[in-house]
Amino acid sequence: MDRLKISGGKPLSGTIPISGAKNSALKLMAAALLTPEPVTLTNMPNLADTRFLSQLLSTLGVEVYWPKGDATCHLNAAELTSTIAPYEQVRKMRASFNVLGPLLARYGHATVSLPGGCAIGARPVDLHLKAFEAMGADLLVEQGYVKAAAIHGLKGAHIVFPFVSVGATEHAMLAATLANGETVLENAAREPEIADLADCLNSMGAQGSGAGPATITIEGVEKLHGTTHDVMADRIEAGTYAMVVAAAGGDVTLTNAPVAALSAVNHALRNAGIIVDADKDARTLRIQRNGSKLNAVNIDTAPHPGFPTDMQAQFMALMSLADGTSIIRENIFENRFMHAPELSRLGANISVRGHEAIVKGVDALKGAPVMATDLRASVSLVIAALAAQGETEVSRIYHLDRGFERLEQKLTAVGADVRRVSAEEE
Ligand code: EPU
Repeated sequence: MDRLKISGGKPLSGTIPISGAKNSALKLMAAALLTPEPVTLTNMPNLADTRFLSQLLSTLGVEVYWPKGDATCHLNAAELTSTIAPYEQVRKMRASFNVLGPLLARYGHATVSLPGGCAIGARPVDLHLKAFEAMGADLLVEQGYVKAAAIHGLKGAHIVFPFVSVGATEHAMLAATLANGETVLENAAREPEIADLADCLNSMGAQGSGAGPATITIEGVEKLHGTTHDVMADRIEAGTYAMVVAAAGGDVTLTNAPVAALSAVNHALRNAGIIVDADKDARTLRIQRNGSKLNAVNIDTAPHPGFPTDMQAQFMALMSLADGTSIIRENIFENRFMHAPELSRLGANISVRGHEAIVKGVDALKGAPVMATDLRASVSLVIAALAAQGETEVSRIYHLDRGFERLEQKLTAVGADVRRVSAEEE
């Protein structure tokens, strides 16, 4: 298994280009199942997760043309050979479950493995299933699989989500595009990726409105056509590099940054004393910290436009060096503090009480061997390591490869000392 060796303590300077958003790309790829015509996605991030979903789509009979390293992915679901998504594939990545809605909407039946829990919590899919039932699907959950059928097609429904779910909102949107009649989704998620999905679906001929506010309306159509869609830039990747510079110091400009989607993160950074120059038109975000102290800032994770749970671990790494105590509350997932004990190995002073982490800032962190546990937790260790004195070795970095495109290259380009070491090299 590969590891990262990081020598910290060097201020960074230069430019980091932001890639396409993983969490948008995965739903856009699933949308290609809705039409027999070609769908081309540009600004596609080359990640383990997106490559993995392209394999699942191929298994279903989608023609995928996506040369290695290329940012354009061509998908053609003209003729599917299967509507079954097997356990071996869905278990590896939860977002694979998103093929259920499109298959059901277009073919009237699908069998998809339940995704199961994951490192950050149980993560059930009950809201997804309730939405499909409201749209007239018959569901049977048996031997770990969801067997779904809507012989006469899905019908529009009025769905009120009891709490905000990004995945359930997107999944219901995908299915509603081909349902018979109008679907209204209330208390829908408002994450920027939802608007990106809505734009793509509308460019395929869907009749949707309102992605962004908490109520989304979709009038089903008989069929959708092909499209070319540019995947939005990754707000979590951009926010993560902003935290890298905030922690290690320096002056770095992020290009192709989804500036408007980052307001809660930028607000927290500014409160911490970081200079953030955001230019929406130029899509740049310049982050500066030149020796200034870090203020302790409290955060509460919340659905968009609140502070994103996917940035919580990175912010904790930053706050471990703040001047004072910050309280970090995780309100989305029940078990998303696995980075806390690993950060403590680097000298951070963090105590976790249920959904709350109390982070007492320390003067300095010191390099140590640490282990990645999930995607965002892993990158919080990279942030801490870049700010720490001495060398840190991060193991199990396959988690990082799921969601950060060319991480070492992007970091070394701004002066960081980061090396990937493969097991064979030692
Ligand atoms: N939930 C249920 N039932 C459901 C659906 C969700 O109880 O049917 C719960 C979840 O267990 C969680 C909460 O509702 O406690 C919110 O989950 P949500 O459905 O919003 O999350 P998701 O769609 O599974 C996506 C991202 C996550 C991100 C969350 C929240 C993708 C592929 N994943 O997950 O990203 O943290 O939204 O913003 O889009 C990551 O990229 O590292 C990551 C985990």
